[in-house]
Amino acid sequence: MSKILVLPGDGIGKEIITQALKVIDSLNANNNLGMELVHGLIGGSAYDETGSPLPEETLKAAKECDSILLGAVGGYQWEVLDRPLRPERGLLGLRAEMDLFSNLRPAILYPQLAAASSLKEEIVSGLDLMIVRELVGGIYFGEPRGIEVKDGQRFGINSATYFESEIARIGHSAFQIAQKRDKRVCSVDKANVLEVCELWREVMEEVSKDYPDVELSHIYVDNAAMQLVKAPKQFDVMVTSNLFGDVLSDCAAMLTGSIGMLPSASLNKDNFGMYEPIHGSAPDIAGKDIANPLATILSVAMMLRYSLNQTDLAGKIEVAVNTVLDQGYRTGDIAAQGDTVIGTEEMGDRVVAALK
Ligand code: IPM
Ligand code: MG
Repeated sequence: MSKILVLPGDGIGKEIITQALKVIDSLNANNNLGMELVHGLIGGSAYDETGSPLPEETLKAAKECDSILLGAVGGYQWEVLDRPLRPERGLLGLRAEMDLFSNLRPAILYPQLAAASSLKEEIVSGLDLMIVRELVGGIYFGEPRGIEVKDGQRFGINSATYFESEIARIGHSAFQIAQKRDKRVCSVDKANVLEVCELWREVMEEVSKDYPDVELSHIYVDNAAMQLVKAPKQFDVMVTSNLFGDVLSDCAAMLTGSIGMLPSASLNKDNFGMYEPIHGSAPDIAGKDIANPLATILSVAMMLRYSLNQTDLAGKIEVAVNTVLDQGYRTGDIAAQGDTVIGTEEMGDRVVAALK
């Protein structure tokens, strides 16, 4: 029996999580999955109810569970709050508290959706790349940070810092993932300018010695952005620091035509994981039954694969999603001419039907 903490969060979070729960219910009923669900609050909705974007109770529940399934956090109404109270802090706090240092962000192009990409079909068709992003260090968490007054004017400061051990462990993650794929790791840095990246590159070289079967290359982040748009299929696994991975993973996601299709995993050293769609809370479309629930449903598949060792069931979900796409059903974000546009609820129901 595995225990899953469900954190819908804000915006479209609730409606997309509802669809993922339908899938879990169906797997529980038909495959003896034995998932027990615990529900909790995070983000702006947690702030509204408890005064904190990451309530103690949520953190306690996280520590007692086997995995977390998260919707999304954030919304306009909370942007005026002091920084420590903002929804994003709930997410960042959970990542840090659970030491979820290894963030896997696959960018896969579903052949049925090739027309939805803004790039030419031949550039993206068959795309299957994995960004492995360091998630609990770097400039997101480095000290000192803040806004001060210096020489009579305001002065903003953040610090990009990495211990070699932090670089090594994300390196090991990336190499181990590459071993199960095309055995190529491309490490992203800005070593021509930043010392912290010089260290990053050195440590990646050292780690690579443990993986003689995997080829390591290095690329500057500006060139990486360019290459992702020019010839994305050249990459297998890209390993990045926290900030570079944030930026490049949005870019990679968009190559696939819809950020609404992409799941992610954030793992600690014991493979405890938090699973969430890559897209955000999209408050502008919340409650309208138009959000795409597939990234969240595919996050359940990732959870089964990476934390719960249920590869077969993960595959079943992925096949079901493919079946629904083959049938021509699309939410608005991935629809092309001639497709049948359906809502969030119906998409969830169709995936459940295809599972059976
Ligand atoms: C992401 C998001 C988060 C990040 C925000 C919401 C804090 O953009 O998961 O990519 O910057 O890591
Ligand atoms: Mg981001």
